[in-house]
Amino acid sequence: MSSLLNKVAFVTGGGSGIGRGIALRLAREGADICVPDVDEAGARETVDLVTQLGRRAMTVKANVASQVQIQQAAKACVAQFGRLDFAVANAGIGRGGSVLEMSLKDWQDQVDVNLTGVFLTVQAAAREMVALGHGGRIVCISSLAALNTSSTMWAYSATKVGVRMMVRGWAQDLGQYGITVNAIGPGVIETPLAAGLAGEPGGNIRGSLESRTPVGRVGRPDDIAGLVNFLVGPDGSFMSGSYLVMDGGLRDARGGWEPDAKAAEELARIQARSLERHVRMQAWLDDRD
Ligand SMILES: NC(=O)c1ccc[n+]([C@@H]2O[C@H](COP(=O)([O-])OP(=O)(O)OC[C@H]3O[C@@H](n4cnc5c(N)ncnc54)[C@H](O)[C@@H]3O)[C@@H](O)[C@H]2O)c1
Repeated sequence: MSSLLNKVAFVTGGGSGIGRGIALRLAREGADICVPDVDEAGARETVDLVTQLGRRAMTVKANVASQVQIQQAAKACVAQFGRLDFAVANAGIGRGGSVLEMSLKDWQDQVDVNLTGVFLTVQAAAREMVALGHGGRIVCISSLAALNTSSTMWAYSATKVGVRMMVRGWAQDLGQYGITVNAIGPGVIETPLAAGLAGEPGGNIRGSLESRTPVGRVGRPDDIAGLVNFLVGPDGSFMSGSYLVMDGGLRDARGGWEPDAKAAEELARIQARSLERHVRMQAWLDDRD
């Protein structure tokens, strides 16, 4: 039986990776899906996949770092579907580097998207939920990086710690409107964002990660989507203000999660592939109004 039949989910960054996995899982459970994303092509692909599952879907080009754009996206979702039951503040970026070299722009972009963008998404969606009066469920995608960090991941970690703490305040604030708010801390999940950490199937980076992860594999978007489905579904109604780690046990594994130094060649190959995406995305991220 479809447990989310005729509910409406607003999934930021649903055009790729974890967000797409969440959009498809919630659609399979019966929800209609709105996909705000800076990447219009990726979002359209997700919309097509949702439509093939027999649910309604729409995309809105929106940068979560822009209050105007994300509020318009939430309003467009309600105008199209008449409700907004679930919001998943998933859109995020990663900019690594030594404290000696991190540019102010890389720092600021991460804060704007991962921290301010989550705040603006939750504000926009919660305002619609409160106005509609039907309650709601909000899930924010933090990271295992809110617990662990490294010499290059500290800035990203700072934003994810913020998300982990913000949901606790929002849970206190929004409970009176029948809205729950939780955060998820994924470990390494195979997506374009984490390509450098997850490595290539059969490669040294992947092998090293698999051997250090108690469950013996890297995560998939579907793993996180299953947890979101729990949080927005009937069994998640008593959970609010929580931060749930889903990492296959990696947080207590020996060694850091930096790629194995012996895999430098593989890493260089992956980074070259990622650079093109990075450059393409930067122009979208710079559009803030
Ligand atoms: N992949 C992992 O290992 C991992 C681990 C922990 C947490 N996370 C978090 O999960 C979330 C999703 O990451 P992913 O791995 O699926 O990445 P991804 O790069 O595959 O997808 C991110 C999506 O967000 C969109 N996006 C980025 N900035 C945006 C903005 N300003 N406004 C609107 N859309 C924007 C992108 O266009 C893309 O479609 C992020 O918050 C990330 O920090 C990922």
